[in-house]
Formats: sequence, C-alpha cells, structure tokens
Amino acid sequence: MTAVRPETTARPVTDTSLSFPTDFVWGAATAAYQVEGAAAEDGRTPSIWDTFSHTPGKVRNGDTGDIAADHYHRYRDDVALMKDLGLKAYRFSVSWSRVQPTGRGPAVERGLDFYRRLTDELLEAGITPVATLYHWDLPQELEDAGGWPQRDTAYRFADYAEIMARALGDRVGVWTTLNEPWCSAFLGYGSGVHAPGRTDPAVTLRAAHHLNLAHGKAVGVLRDLLPSTAQTSITLNLHQVRPLTDSPEDAEAARRIDAVGNRVFTGPILDGAYPQDLIADTAHLVDWNELVQDGDLAEISRPIDVLGVNYYSPTVVSHPVDGAGTTKNDGHGASAHSPWTGSDHVAFHLANDNLTAMNWAIDASGLHTLLTDLAKSHPELPLMVTENGAAFDDYISPEGKVNDPQRVAYLHAHLDAVRRAVADGADVRGYFLWSLLDNFEWSYGYSKRFGAVYVDYSTQRRIPKDSAHWYAGVIRENALPA
Ligand code: NOJ
Repeated sequence: MTAVRPETTARPVTDTSLSFPTDFVWGAATAAYQVEGAAAEDGRTPSIWDTFSHTPGKVRNGDTGDIAADHYHRYRDDVALMKDLGLKAYRFSVSWSRVQPTGRGPAVERGLDFYRRLTDELLEAGITPVATLYHWDLPQELEDAGGWPQRDTAYRFADYAEIMARALGDRVGVWTTLNEPWCSAFLGYGSGVHAPGRTDPAVTLRAAHHLNLAHGKAVGVLRDLLPSTAQTSITLNLHQVRPLTDSPEDAEAARRIDAVGNRVFTGPILDGAYPQDLIADTAHLVDWNELVQDGDLAEISRPIDVLGVNYYSPTVVSHPVDGAGTTKNDGHGASAHSPWTGSDHVAFHLANDNLTAMNWAIDASGLHTLLTDLAKSHPELPLMVTENGAAFDDYISPEGKVNDPQRVAYLHAHLDAVRRAVADGADVRGYFLWSLLDNFEWSYGYSKRFGAVYVDYSTQRRIPKDSAHWYAGVIRENALPA
C-alpha cells in the first residue's frame, strides 16, 4: 500500500474571515434504507437492498435495514433533535417501494403520508426539506424486470417523480433526482458489492446511461409540475482524481478513471454529450450509438438549478507497477482491474495514511479542489455539498458521552476547505453533514458509524456526539471557530 503526501493548497489573500455567506444552508443528510426501518409496514415492498441484505454473505454480520435507526417511527423526535442542533435543512430520501410498491402504477397513500408527515414536521420546526428521489433502493419488481440496464426503468422513474412532485410539491422546494448514480451503476452492476450484486461490465454502462436518462426525464417532470421557485438537482460523488506521479502513464490512468468515474455523468448532464475518450475506452463493451437514442442527450442535459457534490476522500491512481497500489471497492473507488478502463491500466493508492474507520484517507484539500474546479468549468452552476463526513469507532464513555475529536477535526478541515472555495469564487450554497444519525452503512452494515448523533441500536437511544455539539456551534455562529 503506498501513500502519497497530501496536496497543500495556498491560502488566497481574500481569505480573511472564518465566516460563511449569509443564507448558507447548514444541513445534515440521511437516506431512506439506511435509517427508516419499517421495511414491511404500510404497504412497503422489498427494494433491491432488502433482497441483497437478506442474502447471506452480502452485508457484514448479516445486518439488514429492517429496523435501521427506526426513523419511520421516531421521525418526530429526530426532527426535534435537528431543531436542537439548529439545522437549517434536512436532506432525506424517499423509499420508492414505500410509495409505489411495484415500481409502476398507482401510489400507496399510507406510504406518501409518511413523507407528508415528515415534511410537515420539518417545516413546523423551521427546517427546509431537501428530498432525494433515489438513494439506491430500486423496487425489487423493477430489478426483476431487468433493473437499470433496461431503458424502461428510466420511464418508470419519471412516473415515480410525477407521483412525488404531486404529493410533496407544495411543501418541498429542493429536489434531487439521484444520489451517486456512479455507485448504483458501477457497484450495483459492475463490482457487485452493492445491490443488486450483478457483475457485468457491459450492463454497468447501460445502467449508467439509463440512470442519466432517468435523471433527465425526472427533471422534465419536476419542472413541469413544481412551482418556478423549486430547485432541481442531482448529487454526484465526483472522484477527485490525482495521478500518483507526473509520468504520462499515471496521467493516462487518471484520465481513464476521470472518464468512468466522473465524465460518464457530468458529460451528458452538464455538457450534453458523452466524452469521446470514454466512448473509445469502452467501445468493446457497448455500442454507444445503439444505447443512446435520438433525443436522449437533450433530455439528460436539461438545466438543473444546483449540483450536489458528495466528497469523502481523494482518488489517487497510477499505472500499475509491481506490488504498488491497492484496490478500493468501497463506494469511492473502483476495482484496480476495472474492465471499463480498457485493460489493466489503473492501480489505486491512499493519498496519505491518516485514515477513517472506512480506511479512506483524510485530505480536505480534495474538497477545495473539487469545488473550485467545478466553479471554473461550470461558472454559472451553483453547488451544494450534499454529503461529507467520516466514520470512526465511536463508543459511549462512562459519563454517557460520545467523544469524537477525530470527527470534529475532519469536519473542521473540510468546512474550512468549503469556506476557502467560497472565498476563491465557488458558488457553494450549503453543506450537509453525512450523517445526522449512525445508520446502515450498506455492505458494512452497522459496523461503521458516520452519525453526528450516536444511535444505540439495542434501545434506539440517540446521543449527540461531541461533533454534533461542535457543528451546532458552527451553525449558530455561521463561522468556524478560530
Ligand atoms: C455516500 C452515500 O450516499 C451514503 O449513502 C453513504 O452512507 C456515504 N457515502 C458513506 O459511505
């Protein structure tokens, strides 16, 4: 395993204050399958994550989202907690199979009612609801019909977006179509470490295109049905790709990962076309002319109002050299022998050896670079950090507290990176901490705790960690502590 030294970023001269812009949106995020529980209540049917987590060997300790943080029943207390922390916004996702159990046809009112109650509660507490339509939990029936590799799934998603816009359009003003479609496609259908657990490099790219199409169609539906003040967005986990050295081989590895990690989404969504180099790299897997139909790119590139960016750790790549490099298959990297990069072109490295409990290298400069690069390439596009945070091995102290100085340090460094990006001209509108609560961390189950609030799963008791109190102070002051 190699580690490279963190990049240092010089502070600009404009950097004189620790404050954030007025109206900066301070939030925290969760996702339906990770927190709700109530997996079989009020008409909800299994999603691909229910099936996957109930398949032995897929999730650590055999954990499932059946109960999770029981947010479905405890949302009132959770909103009260958010209010105590001073959160201005809450980013949650809707469980598709809770509101449209078969993924097609009429909606289930009891399912919709949960989101009506949740958003009413938020609004009453003065907290802005930010709704994500898809955070990885495809209704199982749609997967049985072929899932994201099937074009029809994009049409089903547009219908589902219509149901949600009609149900919540009067109370939700910020809408995100998809969360991290890279993970849905490449981890769900490529490496198979996420649901539905398929491992076919060709269908992975088909899934990616249909996710893009689903996004574009949903933006169209939302724009038609929502008031003009509503904002549409998508959240991407853009890989902050860095070549290990300045050799041409490492630059080539970085180019390839940037293509399948980032530009497969930003190309069509923001610039209206799939990149030529991606098409060339993957021509042996898909016929892009057949996959991308007339009119698709116009739909996919419908303007969005804000781009959501999730950032945890940079992605350092090189040309494979004997013994160096590590594979990283955890949601923020790709297999070293990635079939999409053409052949064995890429090895992954840790940016440094300061790691979180996920073994992700801590390097806040990556967030600054990501935001300022986007501001340069798409100056008119407002940005929102829709996820950032860290897992550490938290425990309750004998005094009943959860001391998490490492998370405080992580958040401090990353918020400082956001603040510097704003000072350097990036139009960053807000920041959502991942996560409000400890929750079901996908294939890691409950073994990884990302919450600002500790969840004791045996009692469902919530204990705000030190980082939650620290974050509340930042929100109160709208500034970082000196
Ligand atoms: C990104 C995903 O959106 C979220 O669901 C996940 O828990 C975090 N990253 C941490 O891995």
